Amino acid sequence: MTTVTILSGSPSRVSKTNRVAEWVKEQLQRLGHTVYLVRLRDLPAEDLLYANDSSEPIAQTHEWIRQSKAIIVLSPVYKGSYTGILKAYLDLLPEKALKEKLVVPIVTGGTIAHLLALEYALKPIFSILGARTILHGVFILDWTLGHDDEGRIVLSDDLLSRMQEVIQAVSQLNEDRAVS
Ligand SMILES: Cc1cc2nc3c(=O)[nH]c(=O)nc-3n(C[C@H](O)[C@H](O)[C@H](O)COP(=O)(O)O)c2cc1C
Repeated sequence: MTTVTILSGSPSRVSKTNRVAEWVKEQLQRLGHTVYLVRLRDLPAEDLLYANDSSEPIAQTHEWIRQSKAIIVLSPVYKGSYTGILKAYLDLLPEKALKEKLVVPIVTGGTIAHLLALEYALKPIFSILGARTILHGVFILDWTLGHDDEGRIVLSDDLLSRMQEVIQAVSQLNEDRAVS
């Protein structure tokens, strides 16, 4: 079993991205993994905005990342890129915080025209932060996400199989590999 941190970068209270993050968490927990889900909107806004590097709640998330072998990063596309709250959070990460980690980007967006935001906006920053392997990732068109009576998301067959590939890749991580 492995330890995974999920970072969800939507500032919205009612968020499709957060629902996807919760789905991923549920799947991984069902397989016995330890999962920390960080909804960035729940972190102290001032600490993020003023880049407070003494923030205890943020330091706690850094410790979860340190313990994790895989980091799953979700963001909605905002103005052709990832969200400001995610950038504020990433700016506070220690140098090379993603060294030796498997990183999986998952992006939700309103138009396929911004599919490449994943490639040109998100992936380079993971590489700067030292990620060992960055998976291809998943782009999700927001209008393809359904939900059931309890408000949980329902994935189309195509999306389900792309998301299962992510779950499988994370699950296959070798437990014996040292955590950086
Ligand atoms: C301020 C803002 C900017 C957005 N910009 C884009 C964009 O440039 N490209 C795109 O495909 N979708 C864009 N969207 C749509 C969101 O990416 C999409 O609806 C996403 O699923 C919202 O996720 P959330 O519910 O977790 O906030 C934008 C939405 C908002 C609120």
